[in-house]
Amino acid sequence: MKVCAQITGWGKCLPQRILTNEDLAKRVDTSDEWIRTRTGIAARRIADVRESTATLAIRAARNALSVADLSPQKLDLIIVATATPEYIFPPTACLVQDALGASRAGAFDLSAGCSGFVYALSIAAHSIEAGACRNALVIGSETLSRIVNWEDRSTCVLFGDGAGAVVLQAAEGDGGVLSSVLGADGSGADLLIIPAGGSRRPASPASVANGEHYIHMDGREVYRFATRIMARASREAIQAAGLTLDQIALFIPHQANIRIIDSAAHELNLPKDRVYVNLQRYGNTSAASIPIALCEAIEEGRLQPGDHVVLVGFGAGLTWGAAVVRWGRPTPVRPVPLWRRSASWLGYRLASVRSLGMRLLRKLDALLGAPWRNGRR
Ligand code: UT7
Repeated sequence: MKVCAQITGWGKCLPQRILTNEDLAKRVDTSDEWIRTRTGIAARRIADVRESTATLAIRAARNALSVADLSPQKLDLIIVATATPEYIFPPTACLVQDALGASRAGAFDLSAGCSGFVYALSIAAHSIEAGACRNALVIGSETLSRIVNWEDRSTCVLFGDGAGAVVLQAAEGDGGVLSSVLGADGSGADLLIIPAGGSRRPASPASVANGEHYIHMDGREVYRFATRIMARASREAIQAAGLTLDQIALFIPHQANIRIIDSAAHELNLPKDRVYVNLQRYGNTSAASIPIALCEAIEEGRLQPGDHVVLVGFGAGLTWGAAVVRWGRPTPVRPVPLWRRSASWLGYRLASVRSLGMRLLRKLDALLGAPWRNGRR
């Protein structure tokens, strides 16, 4: 029997703090009218000082695991797609793994700009189909507010923070992730870039003074690329799934700019009611935008079992990716009973105790050295 990768859980996490266009107009030379008409964005969420890419990812992941009714210990693989990792290393995915107590899971970050979630979904689905793992957690999480130059009106109005996650599980049959196409064109690397802070140009007083640790973007060129690639990638993924456009119930594009989305929908001849848009609330949350939009589409009852949904993104790299999913899970899901929620809560507390214990043991090991270690064995 064929094994497929089904989405069985989904979750999101958005910071509480809302930054409106009016708020931005007080900081830079812009207006609500310009931002709305050029991008479709009305507000975005901004992480507070206690929040980070990892904390948002962990909360989205817990929600997704709860919907899937899956213990973190059953996870084999965790991928965090992000352009704003907690550190250059270790991977943010390892911090998520530790916080969840997913002691059997491999964990790594994936950097493919705003296409990261589709890339991660594709890799996880192929791992499941190949029999390399059965349960995977795929997260898109970003704190773009930390890498945006708040004095640059051409970029600071666009981005926001948030996280979305899905649980993928092996199932028998031919549903789930039906196809995915991934692409890249590194000749456009300089169009959307953080020039300093990596190995090419390590951080220095000059790089900081020049604002080279912030997002630099040639908006017009990225726009031109996006309008070309969204429809093409979607068509390729639909064809690879053996479907036609009229069999697609919902199109969930990367939420960057309403004009880009409208242009892709126009080219694909898709009516507005088959295209999901929530960028007015959250702006561009990069790798998190597609899973957040997917969660909200499900919450709004826009997906029913048997429906086909296209997820399509583009971003820094340049990269692009599209995937077709046959929806399998009836919604709304039954509420998780109180005892199950309490057990999860306890599991997560135990995971942090375990993590603390491991750190202490490591310190003890370093302090007491080989004799203690030998004695322990
Ligand atoms: O996830 C991938 C990330 N990136 C993207 O998706 C970005 C793709 N590009 C875009 O979405 C659009 O190119 C932008 C929204 C970034 C810009 O829209 P545009 O229609 O391409 O505007 P533009 O860059 O051609 O700028 C038009 C004018 C310029 O003034 P001049 O030179 O015509 O006098 C800008 O200086 O608008 C000015 N401008 C602004 N004015 C008010 C740029 N940003 C702002 C602003 N408020 N925030």
